[in-house]
Amino acid sequence: MKKVQFTETVLRDANQSLMATRMKFEDFKEILPTMDKAGYYSVECWGGATFDSCLRYLGEDPWERLRKIREAMPNTRLQMLLRGQNLLGYKHYHDDVVEKFVELSIKNGIDVIRIFDALNDFRNIKTALEATKKYGTDRTVASGCISYTQSPVHTVKKYVEMVKELKAMGFDTICFKDMAGTMSPFEAESLIKGVKDAIGDMPLVLHTHCTTGMAYMTLTKAVECGIDVIDTATSCFSNGTSQAATETMFYALQQYGVETGLNEKVMNEVNDFFKPVKQKYIDNGTINPKSMGTDSQALVYKVPGGMLSNMIANLKDMNALDRFDEALVEIPNVRKDLGYPPLVTPLSQMVGNQAVTNVLMGERYKQISNEIKNYFRGEYGIAPGEVSKELQTKILGEGGKPADCRDEDKKRTGEEFAKAKEALGELCETEEDMMSYICFPQQAEKFLKERKAKRENIAKYTIEEI
Ligand code: CO
Repeated sequence: MKKVQFTETVLRDANQSLMATRMKFEDFKEILPTMDKAGYYSVECWGGATFDSCLRYLGEDPWERLRKIREAMPNTRLQMLLRGQNLLGYKHYHDDVVEKFVELSIKNGIDVIRIFDALNDFRNIKTALEATKKYGTDRTVASGCISYTQSPVHTVKKYVEMVKELKAMGFDTICFKDMAGTMSPFEAESLIKGVKDAIGDMPLVLHTHCTTGMAYMTLTKAVECGIDVIDTATSCFSNGTSQAATETMFYALQQYGVETGLNEKVMNEVNDFFKPVKQKYIDNGTINPKSMGTDSQALVYKVPGGMLSNMIANLKDMNALDRFDEALVEIPNVRKDLGYPPLVTPLSQMVGNQAVTNVLMGERYKQISNEIKNYFRGEYGIAPGEVSKELQTKILGEGGKPADCRDEDKKRTGEEFAKAKEALGELCETEEDMMSYICFPQQAEKFLKERKAKRENIAKYTIEEI
């Protein structure tokens, strides 16, 4: 019998896609022991934007959140999303920082680390993989993740090469990450059939979003073609910009005789629990109804939904919304000049902003953003395809070539640790505090100061009560 396992995303990607990762730990802690019995392959609960959001908006220690989830769900694999050398931020960190972050993630409870790079430059995920292997236990899974996109250079042949490379690097599973939700059932079929030989018996995972309305068809086709794990969200937190519904996929697949290992009764309990949670966040405006609908524009322009709404907001700010159509046409041109990067953070913002600038200035690349300049200097890694030679010369000068970003990354001097400890002083009580500061300095410092103040208050009251 065919077997497919499910990764439940309500605590991370569904939370991030529908409500900007604002779900508090208090809102879901009661259901964790129940979720532990559902029979998921894993629960994605950490990484992505959860870390930043905990510190910046929720006043929570992300490490403590992870430890509490671990304690409440001892039997389920806990999963995180890690942006390779960027960890959970936007810049490249030194190798010693990446290693320490992975070590602490595993120590605090993570089992599955899904590691990706926006450009699929796998040099950027090598250090995180090696650290996962070094500090992992027998339940740790290193998942090599490919950012999926469509372009003239992103052929099935190219994806086969990527799969072979990830396999040779030593990953345990391979995941295709369709962040824009633009993978069609037809494309899923050619992709999965195409990479099958290269994958061998390694588990293959598909991550997609409902944004354009294709996820259910694409996932069903993927199962037919032999996918091993799919990402879904409990139904009340599914659809729109989130994942397909767990219970719905379960129901449909069961009729095909697919074995899922899921417990239907428990799954329904999980969904019943989250219904009022969702309602609360709709009522207080955290969930934008727009994110719950289907948006087929991404299929026409090959641009993720979030990128379009960003662009509309920017143009509105500049009183230039009437130039939207021109900017939309300029996006594929800029993307081509950059060698077809997948439109995922931070590349989606970079390409979108440059397209808007090109249109508003009335001349292409009259003004070039620093991020685009850094991209050409090689700070993000190698471009997937040929970049525009003309633009490269304009930025790097005649004969200029991008430098290897790995030269800077390779450092193991401890300087970022020392800087963090010095800046925090007595606020830094653990290595986890230090790492929070390295990733998000201002947010972590503010959080740690508040933590200290809160404790002193509690101590004061306790003494008075005695
Ligand atoms: Co996603």
